[in-house]
Amino acid sequence: MKGKFITVEGTEGVGKSTNMAFIEEWIKSTGKELIITREPGGTELGEKLRDLLLDAKEQSMCDDTELLLMFAARAQHLHEVILPALKAGKWVLCDRFTDATYAYQGGGRGIEMERIAQLEQWVQADLRPDMTLILDLPVDIGLERAGKRSSPDRFELEKHDFFNKVRDTYLARAKAQPHRYQVIDASPAINQVQQSIQSVLESMV
Ligand SMILES: Nc1ncnc2c1ncn2[C@@H]1O[C@H](COP(=O)(O)OP(=O)(O)O)[C@@H](O)[C@H]1O
Ligand SMILES: [Mg+2]
Repeated sequence: MKGKFITVEGTEGVGKSTNMAFIEEWIKSTGKELIITREPGGTELGEKLRDLLLDAKEQSMCDDTELLLMFAARAQHLHEVILPALKAGKWVLCDRFTDATYAYQGGGRGIEMERIAQLEQWVQADLRPDMTLILDLPVDIGLERAGKRSSPDRFELEKHDFFNKVRDTYLARAKAQPHRYQVIDASPAINQVQQSIQSVLESMV
């Protein structure tokens, strides 16, 4: 049996990384074999590309380079990690995936969605996540949460307007394909957010 592919999305500081372990434990408790991974990254080569993409000193990177590096890392990730796991019947839980490319490089940077769709088709063929959880939070609150974490990376240096476009793109994608997305209100306390996540997971297994 083919495993399921679940991705977690949202703007900065909504709690994606915080909730990965909770989702992992919950899925494993149902007896599924699961791997967890992240984008950009997830492979040795992909993590090097991630370092470049997030490096706040890489100010000269143009938007197309950013987009292509995202898909370069993704191609490696699919080849080395995601596809072999799914073929072996494992579930895969990924912190960000191609919806983030639509949101950040499409909505945020303004690259045409059609170009992103072409790369998506080329690199992924028919593979799309079975379920995408979008943790949703007003941009200000997320940035405030993320600000307590570490010095800002290249994306975190962007302005509120950029993140509002990112958020709007996530929400528009969820609205357009409601069967593939679940939007979770990430504003309450962590245990309440996790209750909402658990209800979604219960409907999947
Ligand atoms: N529901 C929540 N309420 C308050 N703080 C939270 C909540 N969820 C996560 N946080 C905190 O917000 C910060 C950013 O969370 P993180 O998981 O790193 O976000 P992301 O991976 O989405 O950027 C962390 O310090 C985390 O502890
Ligand atoms: Mg994170």
